[in-house]
Amino acid sequence: MDAEKLNIKTLAAKYNYEKKALIAILQDIQEACHYLPQEVLGEVSKTLDIPLIDIISVATFYKAFSLEPKGEHQVTVCVGTACHIRGAPKVLDEFEKKLGIKTGQTTEDMKFSLDSVACLGCCAIGPVVVVDGNYHAQTSIRDVDKILKKY
Ligand code: FES
Repeated sequence: MDAEKLNIKTLAAKYNYEKKALIAILQDIQEACHYLPQEVLGEVSKTLDIPLIDIISVATFYKAFSLEPKGEHQVTVCVGTACHIRGAPKVLDEFEKKLGIKTGQTTEDMKFSLDSVACLGCCAIGPVVVVDGNYHAQTSIRDVDKILKKY
């Protein structure tokens, strides 16, 4: 589903208008728009009859959701202890340099968002970089260009 085809009534119908499907619906919206636009959350609120404040609480609780516009591709660099000692800060610096943004920001062309995370639970293969859910193991600054070119 892409952002233009996003229809909240159709989406809610897919989940039988069940309030307990809120997270799944938010995931679908996040996937389509790369973030959760305020006006779309308003529609979800009306359609599922859930107060907007409750939806925003859920959206801010889970790190997978963003209330700010995000890039088409999400780059996440692990800077947890194990990855840190293997050079993750240099890898993160290199991504910042190549993308021309700081961690937590999105490129002007909305292509990439860059974030860091404390540990992804796969320390043995660090430094780990995840792009759109794809794991890149034992990364170094030399891999940054190669990884970005894939996307
Ligand atoms: S510290 Fe990076 S995966 Fe655990």
